[in-house]
Amino acid sequence: MVYQGNSDKLEKKVSIKTLQALKTQTEKFVTVALYDAPMAAMAERCGVQAVLVGDSLGMTVLGHDSTIPVTMEQMIYHVEAVARGNKKSLIIGDLPFMSYATPEQAMTNASRIMRAGAHVVKLEGGAWLEQTIIMLSERGIPVCAHLGLTPQSVNKFGGFRVQGKNKAQASQILNDAKLLANAGADLLVLECVPPTLAKQITDKLSIPTIGIGAGADTDAQVLVINDILGLTEKPPKFSKNFLVEAADIPSALQKFVRDVREGTFPEEQHCFG
Ligand code: KIV
Repeated sequence: MVYQGNSDKLEKKVSIKTLQALKTQTEKFVTVALYDAPMAAMAERCGVQAVLVGDSLGMTVLGHDSTIPVTMEQMIYHVEAVARGNKKSLIIGDLPFMSYATPEQAMTNASRIMRAGAHVVKLEGGAWLEQTIIMLSERGIPVCAHLGLTPQSVNKFGGFRVQGKNKAQASQILNDAKLLANAGADLLVLECVPPTLAKQITDKLSIPTIGIGAGADTDAQVLVINDILGLTEKPPKFSKNFLVEAADIPSALQKFVRDVREGTFPEEQHCFG
């Protein structure tokens, strides 16, 4: 595949309302986790509706083996860079480990990420975040919740493991999803859960779900740019190197965008059954 120019370019600024409307129209949308201005600009040209400045940058950019060491200052630095490079996609900024342990701390740090250029803040966790999400949402800060494999809890999980495989875990994740949506979350990332559970949650919630290793039935897909471009030494099962079938980097990203929109990514081999 050769990059076909600006044909997929975002025409209008994307908001959470845009993503909500896409869910209502059952049109898939695309999210990419990325960390710098040139990649952010390329994502805008390729029609990526939402960019996530993920704390995965701890591993993909900074060489750590988890997201735990990532600081607020590092997140702010990268959110500012992405915001300079991209004026149209919705920018989701991750709150790093222990930056939202109390609702007050979440308010302070969410404000810092928003001032750096994010339009939405993402935080990981279940029912314990209910009050925090109510507080942020009531004060005008859009929230993306994150359930399933939440990497900041890797030490609690005993490794990067698929979540929601047994009945008890699955109903816990489903109940948390409903609770956080009712609290005011605007988006929900579902990471490494069985496709049947992701579909059940997606069908139940009115807010859009963004899947990674969660099957083909979520409203959107997200992958990390390093995985899309084959930069990861041991790529996760749920990812795909799109550069293998593409002539250059923009073509690879454009292929990811098109495959998600057309429902040809992810395939069964990328899922945890
Ligand atoms: O930090 C990140 O990039 C993420 C995605 C993998 C969902 O949280």
